[in-house]
Amino acid sequence: MDKTSILEGADSYWKSMNGCIALDDRWEQEGETPSKKVVKDTILSIPVRERNTVMEIGCGSGHIIKLLDSFETYYAVDQSRNMLILCWLRWNRDKRVRCIISWNGVDTSADLILSIEVAQHQSDPIGYLKSLISKGNFNHFVFTLLVSGLRTEYGLESGTGSIAVSLEEADSFVLGMDVKVVTHDSGLVTYVCHYGNMSSA
Ligand SMILES: C[S@@+](CC[C@H](N)C(=O)[O-])C[C@H]1O[C@@H](n2cnc3c(N)ncnc32)[C@H](O)[C@@H]1O
Repeated sequence: MDKTSILEGADSYWKSMNGCIALDDRWEQEGETPSKKVVKDTILSIPVRERNTVMEIGCGSGHIIKLLDSFETYYAVDQSRNMLILCWLRWNRDKRVRCIISWNGVDTSADLILSIEVAQHQSDPIGYLKSLISKGNFNHFVFTLLVSGLRTEYGLESGTGSIAVSLEEADSFVLGMDVKVVTHDSGLVTYVCHYGNMSSA
């Protein structure tokens, strides 16, 4: 398990959500959230020639794959074996999908990296994102951060808690990056960063 994660509770969360059936229901019921729309719009903004590989770090049971069907290869990475098995059961007939159990040295090379609702489950959300960037080789990066005025920690006792970072911490992390879209969804902020040439989408 990644040492930066506080999600030793990921598996108990999986069990408490009835093997993620409850999460599946929530995904359907909530419809198109601002975060889902940002992912869809981001993909449309990426030139077709750059839609070869996408890697999702913390893919959970694989909902977001539904939004990524214009990519040729999809790497689904998660540290939770249970989550990954669920993802695999859902997607193994799709030859584009490769499931990878996360390990510290994962090579994050892809055209697009996504890490949605994952940083907030690390003991150091910004440190987690920095380590992804330092290991990675990619043109586009979509991630979420839970942002609050104060750095607060809650729910840790259940093992599934989330950690918010202050707006100042978040702003200083993205300083100097080409951040195209930022959207707020109940404290969850989605950032879209582009590193490559976007001129011929
Ligand atoms: C809240 S779920 C989000 C799932 C998916 N991204 C979505 O938005 O539907 C968080 C997932 O991140 C995984 N995770 C947490 N920390 C991780 C890490 N350091 N590396 C890989 N996966 C991680 C958990 O096991 C869990 O499946």
